[in-house]
Amino acid sequence: MAEMEFRTIEPKILYFGTPVALISSLNEDGSTNLAPMSSFWALGWTLVLGLLDETKTAENLERHGECVVNLPSPQMWREVEKLAPLTGKNPVPELKAKQFRFEGDKFGVAGLTQLVSEVVQPARAKECPVQMEARVNKLHRMHGEKLEKLGGGWAAEVEIVRVHVASELIAEGNYIDPQKWSPLIYNFRHYFRLEHEELGKTFRAEK
Ligand SMILES: Cc1cc2nc3c(=O)[nH]c(=O)nc-3n(C[C@H](O)[C@H](O)[C@H](O)COP(=O)(O)O)c2cc1C
Repeated sequence: MAEMEFRTIEPKILYFGTPVALISSLNEDGSTNLAPMSSFWALGWTLVLGLLDETKTAENLERHGECVVNLPSPQMWREVEKLAPLTGKNPVPELKAKQFRFEGDKFGVAGLTQLVSEVVQPARAKECPVQMEARVNKLHRMHGEKLEKLGGGWAAEVEIVRVHVASELIAEGNYIDPQKWSPLIYNFRHYFRLEHEELGKTFRAEK
């Protein structure tokens, strides 16, 4: 492999490419807020969601500890982008006021359909091929100079309590077919899909 040269830089963001989720959370009036998030990861059935303070989602999870983690397909990037300039916070926080507007009906604006959840109150997003109902275990305060400039944030530790998957993505039984499932990837604020060329598998792959 050719020798690499390195420079130090200070990128504003470190979004090296993670799947996009649409987080459903419960508003005060019982309606469901829906917001795009890409700072999340899973260990077992416990997920950690990175939420900025200035989001309605963080406010909602603090008040009502339930959510749905909906995973959109790559084809849904335009719907996701319709949600991008919106917040469920009214009034819009000062830090966001220039770029965001309040919207009380996020599903309607994005053209998405609400589906009643089975064990939590926030609704699922029907068009998303994966919907995971979850309960909040703990909100961990996050720290960092650059994070404070964004208003600070929380790592919301949530436990998945029910997983809904579109039948066509299920290999058999309890397995999701990696040849069929494809996440929408958020790569430095641009949307990508995986090329979906399999390179190999780890020794523990079941299928
Ligand atoms: C693709 C995408 C990924 C995003 N990821 C995150 C994230 O991980 N955490 C976060 O706090 N905001 C994230 N945002 C910004 C929120 O979606 C934005 O702050 C939105 O206003 C939140 O909605 P809410 O205030 O109704 O919760 C992301 C936006 C987009 C478009």
